[in-house]
Amino acid sequence: MMEIHEYEARRMVRMAEEAKTKAYVPYSNFHVGACLKADSGAYYLGCNIENAAYGPTNCAERTATFKAVYEGERKFEALAVAWDGDDYASPCGVCRQVLAEFCSPDMPVICANNKGEYAIRTLAELLPFAFGKKDLK
Ligand code: THU
Repeated sequence: MMEIHEYEARRMVRMAEEAKTKAYVPYSNFHVGACLKADSGAYYLGCNIENAAYGPTNCAERTATFKAVYEGERKFEALAVAWDGDDYASPCGVCRQVLAEFCSPDMPVICANNKGEYAIRTLAELLPFAFGKKDLK
């Protein structure tokens, strides 16, 4: 796993918790926040943004990723996710695939619960045998 110090992990969880307060969740009332740290050192925050048609809902992780990519970032050091759940946050499959486009398999994903406790997993643990640009001819 890429290096991440405990104080940095805690700091990113706090930022993800702050991002969580911005969630637009009139349908699920389930708040999620993400904090993505780019190679540049900048942090990009995202929340989940729901939709009356449900399907177009955007997860917090993708909001943060798309904001960062728009700003020109292409490489990332770590991601923190905080949510309302009692269990550690676990990004959905679509977000795992989006993250795999830009993040290395050994990037730490700091998965927090609603008490600020967290577990650190790698992206490869979340998405083993990922499909990616290497597979295209
Ligand atoms: N959600 C996220 O934002 N990230 C996750 O990792 C899992 C799910 C959102 C989507 C939806 O707004 C709500 O949580 C309930 O599924």
